[in-house]
Amino acid sequence: MQGSSGVAQPVTMAEDNPRPLKFSSRGVGFGMETGDGEASYARNSATVQGGMLRDTGHHLTQAVHLMSLPFESQPIRIADFGCSVGANTLSWADLTTQSVLESYRTKASLATNSIPEIQYFFCDIPSNDFNTLFRDLDSKGETRPFFSAAVAGSFHDRLFPKGSLHIAISTWSVQWMSKIPEAVRDVSSPAYNKGRVWVDGGSPVVAEAYAQVHRQDLLSFFAHRAYELAPGGLLFVTCPCRAEPGRPEAQTRGEFQKASPFSGMLEDSWAELVAEGVIEPQERDSFNIPLFHTSMEEIEEAVNKTGAYEIKQLEIRRDHRYLAPGSPQEHYFKANPASFGKLVKNMVRAVYNPLVEAHLDPPRALKLWERFEHNNTVYVQQTQNVSLSLPGTNFALVLLTRK
Ligand SMILES: C[S@@+](CC[C@H](N)C(=O)[O-])C[C@H]1O[C@@H](n2cnc3c(N)ncnc32)[C@H](O)[C@@H]1O
Repeated sequence: MQGSSGVAQPVTMAEDNPRPLKFSSRGVGFGMETGDGEASYARNSATVQGGMLRDTGHHLTQAVHLMSLPFESQPIRIADFGCSVGANTLSWADLTTQSVLESYRTKASLATNSIPEIQYFFCDIPSNDFNTLFRDLDSKGETRPFFSAAVAGSFHDRLFPKGSLHIAISTWSVQWMSKIPEAVRDVSSPAYNKGRVWVDGGSPVVAEAYAQVHRQDLLSFFAHRAYELAPGGLLFVTCPCRAEPGRPEAQTRGEFQKASPFSGMLEDSWAELVAEGVIEPQERDSFNIPLFHTSMEEIEEAVNKTGAYEIKQLEIRRDHRYLAPGSPQEHYFKANPASFGKLVKNMVRAVYNPLVEAHLDPPRALKLWERFEHNNTVYVQQTQNVSLSLPGTNFALVLLTRK
């Protein structure tokens, strides 16, 4: 693991070390696109990330109902790590707190105890658009049954006092790495990521360099949450997950790589602008997306290394399709390829634009997104394949309780 000095350090089980461990957060620092405009994450997260809530929310509710929530310790503390901003963020907060309240209502009548107050922490990196998040929290004059607070910091660090949380959730976020591996940016290294901006379908050596950083990131994530959770506390995680553990370069399934908006479509758009002289080859080669799709084996290894959890559920959901095949949306986009190109552009841009603009410059970043939109449109015109309804993305569902 990288310390802030840049020197490799062994990971210590968080509980054994009373001082907060500080790990390097280089590579972290760019949140999603801010605000609530057309290109914002708040407006564009429903299709991809929102699907997680529809598919897995009931598992969280069930787990909350099964856990023994304390009557004596006030308040109940819940944290969302990598909360971002927008409808998903608020929906996860509503679902989690409602599940807690329902559980208490059932048990309180038996125990003749009152229902504790709830404190909900929205955690993300400092550049996350917390202003929009807190404005949205009560924009419709709704009152929510919890006290809310923002925690601006990296989930690769420890963010809460020992044993202070009852429930921790993290949805679609732990794929974000603490940093880009140094070898990937070093022109003299065999792991230099020449000709690409990500690892999917690329060199196994580059992908293994990513995997090494990711393994340390996962371990520190689970170790820090173990420190922060009270005994019996719940940790719920969903994240993209690859199907082939031994092939980190296969981040998405083979036949989907070319059409994937996060993979082939994006790589092709960079490559075309390089070929046209808009972007220098070395500018593209030095841009690397700090994202890695884990495997079930990597999750299990990291969880077991902490020795701090009981695994309640650990499963891979295969071939998640963002648009159901045969659905009215799929028909609509097949008939309107330009609408599809725009949807996908906004969706991917909402996640990556802050990184891209920091590396290129806003005018050329815009050119990249225009080309990306065009390529997605043409792909649907030519193939009638709406890539969001193709198989290719797996995700992991992880439910742990703190021993
Ligand atoms: C794709 S969004 C998912 C957001 C939300 N949980 C959802 O389900 O829609 C990923 C979020 O993780 C955050 N993130 C990335 N690295 C992080 C880190 N090291 N610590 C805390 N948050 C991080 C990003 O800023 C972003 O808001």
